[in-house]
Amino acid sequence: MDQPSTEAFAIENLFSLKGKTALITGGSSGLGLIMAKGLLQNGVRVIIASRKQKKCDMALSELEQFGECSALAANVTKAEDRGRLVKAVADNFGSLSILINNAGAIWGSKLEDYPDSGFAKVIDTNLNAVFALTRDMLPLLEKAASAADPARVINIGSMDGIHVPVVQRLPTFAYSASKAALHHLTRCLAVDLASKNITVNAIAPGFFESRMTDYVFEHFKQDIEDDCPLHRVGQPQEMVGIVAYLASRAGAYTNGTVIPIDGGTSISKGHRPWMDQ
Ligand SMILES: NC(=O)c1ccc[n+]([C@@H]2O[C@H](COP(=O)([O-])OP(=O)(O)OC[C@H]3O[C@@H](n4cnc5c(N)ncnc54)[C@H](OP(=O)(O)O)[C@@H]3O)[C@@H](O)[C@H]2O)c1
Repeated sequence: MDQPSTEAFAIENLFSLKGKTALITGGSSGLGLIMAKGLLQNGVRVIIASRKQKKCDMALSELEQFGECSALAANVTKAEDRGRLVKAVADNFGSLSILINNAGAIWGSKLEDYPDSGFAKVIDTNLNAVFALTRDMLPLLEKAASAADPARVINIGSMDGIHVPVVQRLPTFAYSASKAALHHLTRCLAVDLASKNITVNAIAPGFFESRMTDYVFEHFKQDIEDDCPLHRVGQPQEMVGIVAYLASRAGAYTNGTVIPIDGGTSISKGHRPWMDQ
């Protein structure tokens, strides 16, 4: 084995993201916006995409101060819009080092009332579109990829794809199923794309503040904290930290993993009376 230089172990080199390019779907709010800020502040050129032009414009006005960023209104479930995204990445960057499949949808309803349309929308956004966009971006990911520094696909899954959620009060069948499927799609793609020097990993967040979690935070924050061994929700920098790891040299040999960042919520169910004193 080659002996690495001292510089190779320096944290600022191991986790450096300078000069990379990233596309973040759903980058106009919540976790996507947080990741965009984090990458821009560390020298990554970023394109964000989400359906609504107004949200893209608002996000862009917030992001521009941190670095080179552009925004495109595009619906990842539509082939034509994905085509425009591919063109935007090709025109702006020429290649793509980091694809973050983050756009997501949720539907909560009792089983008896759960509509086919709601189920289909969630699966289409959280699963089908991730597959399709990753496939469509392959030529650009391949251009940025090398054995020493692979291109990275980072899928945003959920702890709800690991456990069956309780806090929401309403079942979210399609959401949990879509995220569990996304975790396994991550493994399948990781094995397939390794020969092209592209790694594929998933992050499975617990609760972070966002538009998607507005309602549960307002009504059930205490339950969320009680359900988490660390008794708190996630902080923005904890999301950026895991993305920096997966996108940098430090994470170059990590492939096909699903990394929960949920304070241990997904592995810890129920009350433990002996811990009360
Ligand atoms: N927040 C949490 O606690 C948490 C926990 C676990 C997992 N997650 C996951 O994290 C991801 C981000 O969620 P969030 O909590 O940050 O929610 P959010 O604030 O509602 O963000 C969702 C983003 O996705 C975009 N989007 C939705 N459908 C889209 C589509 N078809 N095409 C393109 N963009 C689309 C939305 O913008 P437009 O409305 O403009 O399209 C928005 O920018 C999701 O995959 C979610 O499942 C979140």
